[in-house]
Amino acid sequence: MDAYSAAPYLRKDLLGLRDLTGGEIVRILDVAAEMKERIDNPAKRSDELRHASIVTLFYEDSTRTKMSFMMAGEYLGAKIDDLGIQTSSVNKGESLLDTGVNLDHMGINVMVLRHRMTGAPHFLAKNVKASVINAGDGQNEHPTQALLDLFTIRERLGGFDGLKVAILGDITHSRVARSNVFALTSLGASVTLAGPSTLISGDMAGIRENVSVTSDIRAAVSDADVVMGLRVQHERRSAAAFPDLREYTAFFGITEEVMRCAKAGALVMHPGPMNRGVELSAEVIDSEQSVIYIQAKNGVAVRMALLKILTDTQ
Ligand code: CP
Repeated sequence: MDAYSAAPYLRKDLLGLRDLTGGEIVRILDVAAEMKERIDNPAKRSDELRHASIVTLFYEDSTRTKMSFMMAGEYLGAKIDDLGIQTSSVNKGESLLDTGVNLDHMGINVMVLRHRMTGAPHFLAKNVKASVINAGDGQNEHPTQALLDLFTIRERLGGFDGLKVAILGDITHSRVARSNVFALTSLGASVTLAGPSTLISGDMAGIRENVSVTSDIRAAVSDADVVMGLRVQHERRSAAAFPDLREYTAFFGITEEVMRCAKAGALVMHPGPMNRGVELSAEVIDSEQSVIYIQAKNGVAVRMALLKILTDTQ
Protein backbone atom coordinates (compact mmCIF):
# COMPACT_ATOMS: atom_id res chain seq x y z
CA MET A 1 0.00 0.00 0.00
CA ASP A 2 3.03 2.33 0.37
CA ALA A 3 4.11 4.18 -2.76
CA TYR A 4 7.42 5.21 -1.18
CA SER A 5 10.52 3.25 -0.36
CA ALA A 6 12.88 4.32 2.39
CA ALA A 7 15.55 6.91 1.63
CA PRO A 8 18.49 7.75 3.93
CA TYR A 9 17.90 10.44 6.58
CA LEU A 10 21.11 12.47 6.53
CA ARG A 11 20.00 15.73 8.16
CA LYS A 12 21.64 17.00 11.35
CA ASP A 13 18.30 17.77 13.03
CA LEU A 14 14.60 16.91 13.04
CA LEU A 15 12.85 20.27 13.05
CA GLY A 16 9.61 19.57 11.21
CA LEU A 17 7.93 17.39 8.61
CA ARG A 18 7.01 20.11 6.11
CA ASP A 19 10.18 19.58 4.05
CA LEU A 20 10.82 15.88 4.61
CA THR A 21 10.47 13.53 1.65
CA GLY A 22 8.17 10.52 1.79
CA GLY A 23 11.30 8.34 1.61
CA GLU A 24 12.88 9.98 4.66
CA ILE A 25 9.68 9.52 6.66
CA VAL A 26 9.44 5.85 5.66
CA ARG A 27 13.06 5.37 6.73
CA ILE A 28 12.29 6.70 10.23
CA LEU A 29 9.22 4.44 10.46
CA ASP A 30 11.24 1.41 9.32
CA VAL A 31 13.89 1.97 12.00
CA ALA A 32 11.12 2.50 14.58
CA ALA A 33 9.66 -0.90 13.62
CA GLU A 34 13.03 -2.50 14.42
CA MET A 35 13.15 -0.61 17.71
CA LYS A 36 9.65 -1.51 18.88
CA GLU A 37 10.47 -5.12 19.69
CA ARG A 38 13.13 -3.91 22.14
CA ILE A 39 10.47 -2.21 24.26
CA ASP A 40 8.77 -5.49 25.12
CA ASN A 41 11.88 -7.64 25.08
CA PRO A 42 14.72 -6.38 27.31
CA ALA A 43 16.97 -9.17 25.98
CA LYS A 44 16.94 -7.43 22.59
CA ARG A 45 18.02 -4.06 23.99
CA SER A 46 21.60 -2.87 23.48
CA ASP A 47 23.81 -0.07 24.72
CA GLU A 48 24.72 1.12 21.24
CA LEU A 49 24.27 4.79 22.20
CA ARG A 50 26.48 4.49 25.32
CA HIS A 51 28.74 7.28 24.02
CA ALA A 52 25.84 9.65 23.34
CA SER A 53 24.74 12.40 25.73
CA ILE A 54 21.19 13.65 25.33
CA VAL A 55 19.40 16.46 27.14
CA THR A 56 15.71 17.32 27.11
CA LEU A 57 14.76 21.00 27.39
CA PHE A 58 11.03 21.39 28.04
CA TYR A 59 10.00 25.02 28.34
CA GLU A 60 6.37 23.78 28.22
CA ASP A 61 4.77 20.92 30.16
CA SER A 62 4.85 17.33 28.90
CA THR A 63 4.16 13.80 30.04
CA ARG A 64 4.29 11.58 26.93
CA THR A 65 6.94 13.31 24.84
CA LYS A 66 9.43 13.90 27.64
CA MET A 67 9.04 10.48 29.26
CA SER A 68 9.19 8.61 25.95
CA PHE A 69 12.45 10.37 25.04
CA MET A 70 13.83 9.44 28.48
CA MET A 71 12.78 5.80 27.98
CA ALA A 72 14.10 5.79 24.40
CA GLY A 73 17.52 7.00 25.53
CA GLU A 74 17.61 4.49 28.38
CA TYR A 75 16.67 1.55 26.11
CA LEU A 76 19.60 2.45 23.81
CA GLY A 77 22.12 2.87 26.62
CA ALA A 78 22.58 6.63 26.18
CA LYS A 79 23.20 9.13 28.97
CA ILE A 80 19.97 11.13 28.99
CA ASP A 81 19.05 13.94 31.37
CA ASP A 82 16.24 16.43 31.65
CA LEU A 83 17.53 19.95 32.32
CA GLY A 84 14.49 20.75 34.46
CA ILE A 85 13.80 24.20 33.06
CA GLN A 86 11.86 25.26 36.19
CA THR A 87 14.93 24.77 38.41
CA SER A 88 17.59 25.78 35.86
CA SER A 89 19.40 29.07 35.26
CA VAL A 90 16.67 29.90 32.74
CA ASN A 91 14.94 31.16 35.89
CA LYS A 92 17.84 33.60 36.37
CA GLY A 93 17.21 34.97 32.90
CA GLU A 94 19.59 32.85 30.81
CA SER A 95 18.56 32.85 27.16
CA LEU A 96 17.81 29.79 25.03
CA LEU A 97 20.90 30.60 22.97
CA ASP A 98 23.26 30.73 25.97
CA THR A 99 21.66 27.65 27.50
CA GLY A 100 22.17 25.70 24.27
CA VAL A 101 25.71 26.92 23.58
CA ASN A 102 26.81 26.01 27.13
CA LEU A 103 25.35 22.52 26.78
CA ASP A 104 27.00 22.21 23.36
CA HIS A 105 30.40 22.95 24.88
CA MET A 106 29.82 20.25 27.49
CA GLY A 107 29.58 17.74 24.64
CA ILE A 108 25.85 17.11 24.41
CA ASN A 109 25.06 15.20 21.20
CA VAL A 110 21.29 15.65 21.01
CA MET A 111 19.05 18.40 22.40
CA VAL A 112 15.30 17.74 22.53
CA LEU A 113 13.49 21.07 22.72
CA ARG A 114 9.88 21.99 23.44
CA HIS A 115 9.24 25.73 23.41
CA ARG A 116 6.23 28.03 23.22
CA MET A 117 7.89 30.06 20.46
CA THR A 118 7.50 29.00 16.83
CA GLY A 119 10.94 28.48 15.32
CA ALA A 120 12.82 28.09 18.61
CA PRO A 121 14.27 24.65 17.63
CA HIS A 122 15.32 26.01 14.22
CA PHE A 123 17.11 28.90 15.94
CA LEU A 124 18.84 26.57 18.39
CA ALA A 125 19.85 24.16 15.62
CA LYS A 126 21.63 26.94 13.72
CA ASN A 127 23.71 27.79 16.78
CA VAL A 128 24.81 24.42 18.16
CA LYS A 129 26.78 21.45 16.85
CA ALA A 130 24.41 19.03 18.59
CA SER A 131 21.45 17.56 16.73
CA VAL A 132 18.21 19.29 17.71
CA ILE A 133 14.85 17.52 17.83
CA ASN A 134 11.71 19.63 17.84
CA ALA A 135 9.44 18.31 20.59
CA GLY A 136 6.79 20.93 19.79
CA ASP A 137 7.25 24.62 18.94
CA GLY A 138 4.32 26.95 19.58
CA GLN A 139 1.54 26.39 17.06
CA ASN A 140 3.97 25.32 14.36
CA GLU A 141 4.95 21.61 14.38
CA HIS A 142 5.22 18.54 16.61
CA PRO A 143 7.05 16.22 14.24
CA THR A 144 7.76 13.32 16.61
CA GLN A 145 4.05 13.12 17.51
CA ALA A 146 3.04 12.94 13.85
CA LEU A 147 5.71 10.31 13.20
CA LEU A 148 4.33 8.11 15.98
CA ASP A 149 0.83 8.68 14.63
CA LEU A 150 1.98 7.54 11.18
CA PHE A 151 3.79 4.58 12.70
CA THR A 152 0.56 3.53 14.44
CA ILE A 153 -1.51 3.96 11.27
CA ARG A 154 0.95 1.94 9.19
CA GLU A 155 1.15 -0.78 11.83
CA ARG A 156 -2.66 -1.15 11.83
CA LEU A 157 -3.64 -0.34 8.23
CA GLY A 158 -0.52 -1.27 6.27
CA GLY A 159 0.22 2.09 4.60
CA PHE A 160 -1.07 5.51 3.61
CA ASP A 161 -1.81 5.63 -0.11
CA GLY A 162 -5.49 6.51 -0.60
CA LEU A 163 -6.27 6.66 3.14
CA LYS A 164 -8.83 9.17 4.38
CA VAL A 165 -7.88 10.79 7.69
CA ALA A 166 -10.23 13.11 9.60
CA ILE A 167 -8.59 15.44 12.15
CA LEU A 168 -11.15 17.03 14.43
CA GLY A 169 -11.11 19.82 16.99
CA ASP A 170 -8.91 22.78 17.76
CA ILE A 171 -6.98 22.92 14.48
CA THR A 172 -5.72 26.50 14.81
CA HIS A 173 -3.65 25.85 17.91
CA SER A 174 -2.56 22.36 16.92
CA ARG A 175 1.04 21.74 15.97
CA VAL A 176 0.06 18.05 15.86
CA ALA A 177 -2.46 18.73 13.08
CA ARG A 178 0.07 20.66 11.01
CA SER A 179 2.78 17.99 11.24
CA ASN A 180 0.25 15.26 10.45
CA VAL A 181 -1.04 17.16 7.42
CA PHE A 182 2.49 17.51 6.04
CA ALA A 183 3.47 13.88 6.64
CA LEU A 184 0.20 12.20 5.64
CA THR A 185 -0.15 14.10 2.38
CA SER A 186 3.52 13.45 1.55
CA LEU A 187 2.70 9.75 1.69
CA GLY A 188 -0.50 9.79 -0.38
CA ALA A 189 -3.26 10.16 2.23
CA SER A 190 -5.98 12.82 2.11
CA VAL A 191 -6.87 14.83 5.21
CA THR A 192 -10.09 16.56 6.23
CA LEU A 193 -9.82 19.09 9.04
CA ALA A 194 -13.00 19.83 11.00
CA GLY A 195 -13.96 21.89 14.01
CA PRO A 196 -15.53 25.18 15.02
CA SER A 197 -14.86 27.80 12.33
CA THR A 198 -13.26 29.92 15.10
CA LEU A 199 -10.64 27.18 15.55
CA ILE A 200 -9.60 26.58 11.93
CA SER A 201 -7.63 29.30 10.18
CA GLY A 202 -8.84 29.97 6.66
CA ASP A 203 -5.48 29.17 5.08
CA MET A 204 -5.42 25.52 6.27
CA ALA A 205 -7.24 24.18 3.18
CA GLY A 206 -4.47 25.55 0.96
CA ILE A 207 -1.63 24.26 3.09
CA ARG A 208 -1.24 21.16 0.88
CA GLU A 209 -3.11 19.39 -1.91
CA ASN A 210 -5.55 16.75 -0.64
CA VAL A 211 -6.50 18.82 2.42
CA SER A 212 -10.07 20.03 2.92
CA VAL A 213 -11.76 21.96 5.72
CA THR A 214 -15.30 21.76 7.07
CA SER A 215 -17.19 22.61 10.24
CA ASP A 216 -19.42 19.52 9.81
CA ILE A 217 -17.69 16.72 11.73
CA ARG A 218 -20.04 14.01 10.39
CA ALA A 219 -19.14 15.01 6.83
CA ALA A 220 -15.44 14.95 7.79
CA VAL A 221 -15.70 11.50 9.36
CA SER A 222 -17.81 10.06 6.53
CA ASP A 223 -15.97 7.03 5.10
CA ALA A 224 -12.77 7.89 7.02
CA ASP A 225 -10.14 5.23 7.79
CA VAL A 226 -8.75 7.22 10.73
CA VAL A 227 -10.48 9.68 13.08
CA MET A 228 -8.06 11.78 15.11
CA GLY A 229 -9.36 13.99 17.93
CA LEU A 230 -7.40 16.99 19.17
CA ARG A 231 -7.32 18.49 22.62
CA VAL A 232 -9.12 21.73 23.30
CA GLN A 233 -6.11 23.83 24.29
CA HIS A 234 -7.44 25.88 27.20
CA GLU A 235 -4.02 27.49 27.66
CA ARG A 236 -3.94 28.89 24.11
CA ARG A 237 -7.54 29.51 23.00
CA SER A 238 -9.39 32.76 23.56
CA ALA A 239 -12.69 32.63 25.46
CA ALA A 240 -14.46 33.77 22.28
CA ALA A 241 -13.58 30.58 20.32
CA PHE A 242 -16.76 28.85 21.54
CA PRO A 243 -19.29 29.58 24.29
CA ASP A 244 -18.54 26.73 26.70
CA LEU A 245 -17.26 23.17 26.83
CA ARG A 246 -20.75 21.62 26.97
CA GLU A 247 -21.64 23.33 23.71
CA TYR A 248 -18.31 22.31 22.15
CA THR A 249 -18.96 18.67 23.07
CA ALA A 250 -22.54 18.77 21.76
CA PHE A 251 -21.43 19.95 18.31
CA PHE A 252 -17.89 18.64 17.94
CA GLY A 253 -17.45 15.78 20.42
CA ILE A 254 -16.51 12.40 18.91
CA THR A 255 -19.16 9.94 20.09
CA GLU A 256 -20.13 6.42 19.06
CA GLU A 257 -22.83 7.97 16.87
CA VAL A 258 -20.21 10.11 15.07
CA MET A 259 -17.94 7.09 14.64
CA ARG A 260 -20.74 5.20 12.86
CA CYS A 261 -20.22 7.67 9.94
CA ALA A 262 -16.65 6.38 9.50
CA LYS A 263 -15.56 3.14 7.85
CA ALA A 264 -16.23 0.04 9.93
CA GLY A 265 -13.21 -0.48 12.18
CA ALA A 266 -11.79 3.00 11.56
CA LEU A 267 -9.00 3.88 13.99
CA VAL A 268 -9.64 6.35 16.80
CA MET A 269 -6.57 8.39 17.68
CA HIS A 270 -5.66 11.29 19.98
CA PRO A 271 -2.19 12.66 20.77
CA GLY A 272 -3.00 13.26 24.45
CA PRO A 273 -3.46 14.67 26.95
CA MET A 274 -7.21 14.15 26.53
CA ASN A 275 -10.08 16.10 28.04
CA ARG A 276 -12.07 12.91 28.62
CA GLY A 277 -15.73 13.48 27.76
CA VAL A 278 -15.02 16.75 25.92
CA GLU A 279 -13.38 16.06 22.55
CA LEU A 280 -13.98 12.28 22.82
CA SER A 281 -16.59 10.36 24.78
CA ALA A 282 -15.33 7.83 27.33
CA GLU A 283 -17.00 5.02 25.30
CA VAL A 284 -15.01 5.98 22.18
CA ILE A 285 -11.73 6.33 24.11
CA ASP A 286 -12.16 2.84 25.57
CA SER A 287 -13.56 1.19 22.42
CA GLU A 288 -11.79 -1.54 20.44
CA GLN A 289 -11.21 0.96 17.64
CA SER A 290 -9.15 3.20 19.91
CA VAL A 291 -5.35 3.02 19.56
CA ILE A 292 -4.70 5.99 21.84
CA TYR A 293 -2.58 4.14 24.40
CA ILE A 294 -0.77 2.23 21.64
CA GLN A 295 0.22 5.63 20.24
CA ALA A 296 1.96 6.40 23.54
CA LYS A 297 3.90 3.12 23.37
CA ASN A 298 4.82 3.67 19.72
CA GLY A 299 6.17 7.08 20.71
CA VAL A 300 9.02 5.34 22.50
CA ALA A 301 9.90 3.31 19.38
CA VAL A 302 9.82 6.36 17.09
CA ARG A 303 11.98 8.40 19.47
CA MET A 304 14.46 5.51 19.77
CA ALA A 305 14.68 5.52 15.97
CA LEU A 306 15.31 9.25 15.85
CA LEU A 307 18.04 9.14 18.51
CA LYS A 308 19.72 6.29 16.64
CA ILE A 309 19.46 7.90 13.19
CA LEU A 310 20.65 11.34 14.32
CA THR A 311 23.60 10.07 16.37
CA ASP A 312 24.62 7.75 13.51
CA THR A 313 25.00 10.73 11.20
CA GLN A 314 27.23 12.71 13.62
N1 CP B 1 1.15 14.40 22.80
C1 CP B 1 1.96 15.14 23.58
O1 CP B 1 2.79 15.93 23.10
O2 CP B 1 1.79 14.91 24.91
P1 CP B 1 2.64 15.61 26.06
O3 CP B 1 2.28 17.08 26.03
O4 CP B 1 2.25 14.95 27.32
O5 CP B 1 4.09 15.44 25.73
